This record gives sequence, C-alpha cells and structure tokens, in this order.
Amino acid sequence: MSRLLAASVTLPTSTIPIFRTVASLREWRRKAYLEQKSVGFVATMGALHDGHISLLKHSLSRNDLTVLSIFVNPAQFAPTEDLSTYPRTLEADLALLEQTKVPEPSTESERITSAIFMPTVQDMYPSGITQDVSGQKGTFIEVKGYGHQMEGGSRPGFFRGVATVVTKLFNAVEPTDTYFGQKDIQQGLLLRRMCRDLLLSHPEPGHLHIMPTVRSPVDGLALSSRNAYLSPNDRKHASSLYATLNVCKDAWRDLRDKNLAIEKALAYLKERSSAAEADGVLIKPDYIHMNDPDTFDDVQTYEEGKAVILSGAMWVGKTRLIDNIILGNAEGILG
Ligand code: PAF
Repeated sequence: MSRLLAASVTLPTSTIPIFRTVASLREWRRKAYLEQKSVGFVATMGALHDGHISLLKHSLSRNDLTVLSIFVNPAQFAPTEDLSTYPRTLEADLALLEQTKVPEPSTESERITSAIFMPTVQDMYPSGITQDVSGQKGTFIEVKGYGHQMEGGSRPGFFRGVATVVTKLFNAVEPTDTYFGQKDIQQGLLLRRMCRDLLLSHPEPGHLHIMPTVRSPVDGLALSSRNAYLSPNDRKHASSLYATLNVCKDAWRDLRDKNLAIEKALAYLKERSSAAEADGVLIKPDYIHMNDPDTFDDVQTYEEGKAVILSGAMWVGKTRLIDNIILGNAEGILG
C-alpha cells in the first residue's frame, strides 16, 4: 500500500479528535468562531519531536484551542528526495500529543491539543499532484524572489510546495496564531511574507510566530524529524554543522569579512570531517550562506548589530541536515 495515508486507513485510537477531511475540520472551526475562541495552529509532517512539542506548548499556552496538522506534503519533495522514506510514526505521535499539556490559566485544569488535522492527499490536492513540477496541474503559490536563495538554492521548488500546502492548511484551519520553528528560518520568513502579500487575515502576518530552535542539550544538534535517519556513528558527528556555524559566527565578528569567515568555518568543518572519516562517516558540506532577513540578499559587509541569517546545510552519510544562527539583533524575527 502507498505510504501516503488514504482516508480509509484505520488510525490508531486517540482521545484527541482527528479530522480527516477539510469539511469536518471546517465544521469544528465554525463552532470555535461562534464561541469566540482563539485557535492556535502548528503545521507538521509528523515524526514529532521536542521541537514540535515546544511549538505546540507555545500555542497551547497562548490560545483557547490548538490544532496540529500531520500531513506529509508530496509537493515539497523533489522526485529524487525522500518522500517515500520520510519517517512516519503516527502511533508515537498521537501518544506524545495526548501527553502534552499546559496549565489552563486561572483554573486547576490543563490544556491539551483540541484537534488533529490529518487530511488525505486527495483532499489537499483536488486537481492531483505529481512531484515532477513540469507535470503539475492546478493552483500553486510561489513567493517570487524569496525561494531561490539559501535552502531554496539547493532545493528548487521546495518553497513553492511549502507555500502551496501551508496556504491550503491556513484556509482549512483559519488560525488566529501559528507557530513555526527557527530551524527552518527561510520557511518561516517566506510564509510571513506570503501572509502579507496575499492579505491573509488567518493568520495575519504578525501572528505567524517563529520560535527558537530546540537543540540537543548534549551537543547542540538541532532537533529534526530527519535526525531519525542518522546511524549511531552518524549521530556522533551530526553536531559538526552547528559547531561550524558557530566558528563562522565568531570569525564574522572578529574579521568582519564574509569570505574569510566562511573560509575559516569550512576549514574547521574539514578537520571535523577527517575525525568523522575515522568512524566511517562521510561529511560533505552543501552550503554556508549569510543573508539579509528581509530581502534574503547575500550580505557582504559587516554592520554592527545588524541582523544576518547565517545558514548552512551538510550531508552526514545519507542524511542532509540544515541549521542556522541569527547574528545581530533578532528582534522582529523571532517570537
Ligand atoms: O516544516 C515542516 O514540517 C513542513 O515544511 C510544513 C510547514 C509542515 C509544510 O509541509
């Protein structure tokens, strides 16, 4: 059977209501409107980890109700990418959601996720969907000028797939506020711009929150569903990316020259790669970029305090990892 969940598939049981169709979710949402409840929203592709749970807790503590979606979006995977093997851990996800609670303000009770939205591919893509962009038909959202840098430089078409599915999810959920993780910083900033450009009211652009990356307390590795691909030996070396970005950050501060800073960082990563090789782990950098958070243009010159997104991607064995650090003043980006 296809790994894309069909509507007829029997789901593990959950005490939290699961909505499989846009129509049924809309009915639930209408009731929330009538009761004048705020609705927070966390979009996920499942394989939940503490990063997702942190976003969920932000939503639970700031909204009357919270919807979390689980939908592995075919449109954001290139034909060569990992759609078929993307981790799917529904039973564990539902158990984690049932356990995640925050105190209900000024009462003795607790808040828990109000609804899980798990639409089918057919419901989300009524005109059908192929991963090959040249064969696609129907309506797609492109945030022109903001999807080809940084992560978009390595994954052409990725942000078109993300913007399209998130627009659909926003239309279905109509969230008051929504929460995305800093690990995917370009995604969060691009979606905020999309809300502004499309004059969305649910959410308004200022209600799309980008929350700080959750990291391993041991070595700083950014939590990600794709970390599940790492072998124990890969895992030992996976924090090299974050360490490399930190070397770049310090060199940018000290040398104030982007090319020299990136050169220094790549030299450091080369040393880490040699150590990894001794463990049979192949580390390959994809990119290190420094970009303006508003325009996404490459940053060339150092300006004291000015916000810069320092982002990177690398392969650890067969797993591709991404990470970023915001240099300078992150006000207006996070929170
Ligand atoms: O960040 C993700 O998990 C995905 O890109 C998202 C936002 C759920 C869209 O599919």
